[in-house]
Amino acid sequence: MEETYIFAGAGEVHFTKYAVYTDTIRHGDDVIQEGMKILHQVKGKSFGELAEEQKRYLDDFWEVSDIMIEGDQLVQEGIRFNLYHLLQSVGKDPASNIAAKGLSGEGYEGHYFWDTEIYIFPVFLMTHPEIAKNLLLHRYSILEHAKARALEMGHEKGALFPWRTIAGKESSAFFPAGTAQYHISADIAYSYIQYYLATKDEEFMKGYGAEVLFETARLWADTGHLHNGKYRIDNVTGPDEYTCIVNNNYYTNVMAKHNLLWAVKIYRLLSRTDADRLRALAGRLDLTETEVDNWQMAGESMYLPYDETLQINAQDDSFLQKAKWDLKNTPSDKFPLLLHYHPLTLYRYQVLKQADTVLAHFLLEDEQELGTIRNSYDYYEAITTHDSSLSSCVYSIMASKLGYTDKSYNYFNETARLDLDNTHGNTKDGLHMANMGGTWLAIVYGFAGLRLKENGLSFSPMLPAEWNLLEFQLRYQGRRLKFQKTREFTVYTVVSGDDLEIMHDGEMLLLEKGKDRIVR
Ligand code: IFM
Repeated sequence: MEETYIFAGAGEVHFTKYAVYTDTIRHGDDVIQEGMKILHQVKGKSFGELAEEQKRYLDDFWEVSDIMIEGDQLVQEGIRFNLYHLLQSVGKDPASNIAAKGLSGEGYEGHYFWDTEIYIFPVFLMTHPEIAKNLLLHRYSILEHAKARALEMGHEKGALFPWRTIAGKESSAFFPAGTAQYHISADIAYSYIQYYLATKDEEFMKGYGAEVLFETARLWADTGHLHNGKYRIDNVTGPDEYTCIVNNNYYTNVMAKHNLLWAVKIYRLLSRTDADRLRALAGRLDLTETEVDNWQMAGESMYLPYDETLQINAQDDSFLQKAKWDLKNTPSDKFPLLLHYHPLTLYRYQVLKQADTVLAHFLLEDEQELGTIRNSYDYYEAITTHDSSLSSCVYSIMASKLGYTDKSYNYFNETARLDLDNTHGNTKDGLHMANMGGTWLAIVYGFAGLRLKENGLSFSPMLPAEWNLLEFQLRYQGRRLKFQKTREFTVYTVVSGDDLEIMHDGEMLLLEKGKDRIVR
């Protein structure tokens, strides 16, 4: 740090203060020497030049990332506030990730959770894929820790990613709502698959993704077991932290299935397209064809709990047998429940802190019939407290899918200004980064109905009655795409890159570069 004092004229004092941060991960052992080098570079530029650089950087960000809404100034303000904080907080290199509270407070001690992959990663994936790539590279950089953790937890092989961490080691204190959330390994695998679908970056898949998919698939192969022809996963905790250590959590099982079958798919793809590379990787990992066949068997026979009477996916094997928590007669000053009741009390009831099965239905919607998805939404909504800030956005997205327009908007409104208005009463501990990503998800995946799958991009747009216009941009396989929705029509434009075929409300549309495609 260097400080300059200038005495100018009658009593005026000008201070110029430069602060340079260095660390051994990014700058090597001689952090002082490196810090001085950076300081000299910075000092070569005037404040005006530095301010101009920063302005260009932010202009570039907003050019793609801004979401415009006409008709609701408060929501518009909330969205921009959230996007700005996401950018400020996310790691810009493979040595960092994004903490649950960003860089804004001490809550969760700066730890990274699954919040990254499921709530925040998609925002960057679809707007700034280079930032999304760094998030994946960070997880890759801690893969060896995840493998060591799997061994420590009694597995023969595989990667068990830490529920909460900074440097790669598990830092959970309370294992039932921490380490037992094995789903984080499938969530990380899911984000590698989404990256592949959004970028078609095969080189990245070969260099990093394949290994992560193989090692996480190994975890499921070692954790689960076959029973009466069905592959079951016992003693884990799903996303809902009011229900811990259960057998066959629907979310975990369906995400593990996806993980296993994609590991097989990528293995077979590489054996066709780059057998030498695969041989080298398989040799390094000591991976055999028999193991891969076993992943396929496990994935294809995965047990996904379903209740015939209610025609819903059961959250887990015992969930529907529990008594229902009396939410209606719980005084409002007893929320969030976790601050007023012992976890063991909560675990005995059908009561949810946050979206669980409903989230699985969003991430992997093709696994179930629409009827099951609707019945499940109706059932779980009635027993969900949304005590976690990771919940309302998911209920908004799924309400949009199901045509529950009032609900989609009401849930969305709970996310958009959560920190600006301190609606959870704990913003002093730090911003809720997953919710901030969730705001974006509720707009892009919810109202615009975006889905990213193997067969490309699809949209199913609707505009909340309160708005006159929704406009945003996306990046997809080297292209920039603009989406606009007014009360009368939807407009798609390929701003840069090649022509693109998309699905709009189930119909194929060809988007020609530079031409607005208007759909009434
Ligand atoms: O990861 C979340 C979890 O799902 C709910 N409790 C808070 C964590 C960090 O945001």
